[in-house]
Amino acid sequence: MTRLCGGNDGGAVRVKGTVRRPVREWTASVHALLRHLERMGFPGAPCVLGVDELGREILTYLEGETMGDAPVWPPWSRTEETLVQVAEWTRAYHETVASFVPPPGARWRTGASWTPGAVVVHNDATPWNAAWHRGRLTGFFDWDFAGPATVDSDVAWMAHAWVPLHSRRVTETEGLCDFDARPARLRLFLDAYGWRGSTDSVIKEIQARMRVRAAQIRRLGASGEGLYARLLRGGVADDLDQAIHELHDFPR
Ligand SMILES: Nc1ncnc2c1ncn2[C@@H]1O[C@H](COP(=O)(O)OP(=O)(O)O)[C@@H](O)[C@H]1O
Ligand SMILES: [Mg+2]
Repeated sequence: MTRLCGGNDGGAVRVKGTVRRPVREWTASVHALLRHLERMGFPGAPCVLGVDELGREILTYLEGETMGDAPVWPPWSRTEETLVQVAEWTRAYHETVASFVPPPGARWRTGASWTPGAVVVHNDATPWNAAWHRGRLTGFFDWDFAGPATVDSDVAWMAHAWVPLHSRRVTETEGLCDFDARPARLRLFLDAYGWRGSTDSVIKEIQARMRVRAAQIRRLGASGEGLYARLLRGGVADDLDQAIHELHDFPR
């Protein structure tokens, strides 16, 4: 058994070519989603192999490099080629998940419930949850935050994660300082996705999601323990407020 690098929540270990992760209240719903993706032949997510004798979920290992515990983005995650591949992954994902209807009573960590017209999306498909192998994005692991959303808000959130459109302070901490490149990177992402809406609506969607996330971190982090408390102590809610403010001036 080897502990895999990276992870900000439950973490993961590798056992004989498989990945084992803690089962949580939403795991059964996530498995229904991952099984749908597998049935549809979508290659960009782990497959579910079951639950082991210790009660952990068993998933296939996505081949490739990951960010692990790196504080700054590795070279592969910064290129335009990867940005285009992430947009293509998002497009293919939306096509695949369109036919997924969650099982009755499905529970999602985000707390959102599915209604016809919504899609279940990853919600945390950042460079920290990506695998990359020989010049190609293999896919995304860590589906714990999967939950219902609209396609439009998912496009916006994916763009935010990969352009990226965090606050300048956060972006600098991640080793990405070419702020002038961001409008062109956003355009590249949206064109590669095949986005037909306006850039303005994408920016507004990102700001709306940031508001919800900041409020959620403040609400759930107030208890002083767990993931949200760590995020709150790390200043993530304040960084989101700052990003919302900075995006008001983003070229569109
Ligand atoms: N299916 C997978 N394929 C390849 N690597 C994985 C997979 N799942 C997890 N990992 C590795 O384990 C690390 C921690 O897993 P992750 O699911 O992201 O934990 P957390 O929920 O704590 O963020 C990841 O950064 C990655 O390196
Ligand atoms: Mg993770």
